[in-house]
Amino acid sequence: MNLPTLYTERLIIRPLAVSDAEDMFEYAKTNLVGPKAGWAPHININETYTILRNMVLFKPQYELGNWAIVDRTNNKMIGTIELYNYIPGFKAELGYALNPLYWGKGIVFEAGLKVFEFGFNSLELKRIEAGTFLDNYQSQRVCEKLGMLKEGVQRNGYIRYDGVIFDKVMYGITVEEYREFIKKH
Ligand SMILES: CC(C)(COP(=O)(O)OP(=O)(O)OC[C@H]1O[C@@H](n2cnc3c(N)ncnc32)[C@H](O)[C@@H]1OP(=O)(O)O)[C@@H](O)C(=O)NCCC(=O)NCCS
Repeated sequence: MNLPTLYTERLIIRPLAVSDAEDMFEYAKTNLVGPKAGWAPHININETYTILRNMVLFKPQYELGNWAIVDRTNNKMIGTIELYNYIPGFKAELGYALNPLYWGKGIVFEAGLKVFEFGFNSLELKRIEAGTFLDNYQSQRVCEKLGMLKEGVQRNGYIRYDGVIFDKVMYGITVEEYREFIKKH
């Protein structure tokens, strides 16, 4: 399936492209982003190109793939958002990462709301879930602001690329909860 381009007040949310490498490397090289999402910082831009090529050109058929989050004011790619572990007609998992220069402005909340609209209305999902490391307060706040409920903690639930084991907090929202949530927003 080809992902559609989605629009919000401040953002264009369009399919990720290999040409996003420079903008992605700007944040993927830092220690602030990847390690909190489970991936290693990129060492150089060639690595970013390779990773992007795999994400975009060799995406498994059964996955939806990533959107790029783009700042409408300057067309800069500032992060990614995705619905992965997609099971058609049933559920998917929300994932995201943002350039630290843009943190704290509610950007991923804004993008997440739009992705939820697409997931529940167009894909007819019954549930969207997300998992974050227990110490990733920022990501947990995003889940809470999106109306997701904390469903539990998987103790020692995630082993990262560097062997560090984390407790993983699970969040979820059902289609029924989403319909109620959206009435208030
Ligand atoms: C998680 C992430 C996507 C949040 O995006 P965001 O658009 O900045 O989210 P928000 O603006 O809604 O802020 C969320 C919380 O982060 C905290 N925060 C805000 N600005 C911050 C900053 N500059 N530095 C640290 N924390 C900050 C606040 O507690 C905020 O909650 P609040 O709105 O109740 O005050 C972003 O921090 C990120 O890319 N982190 C690294 C990758 C990652 O963790 N991905 C998710 C893996 S599960």
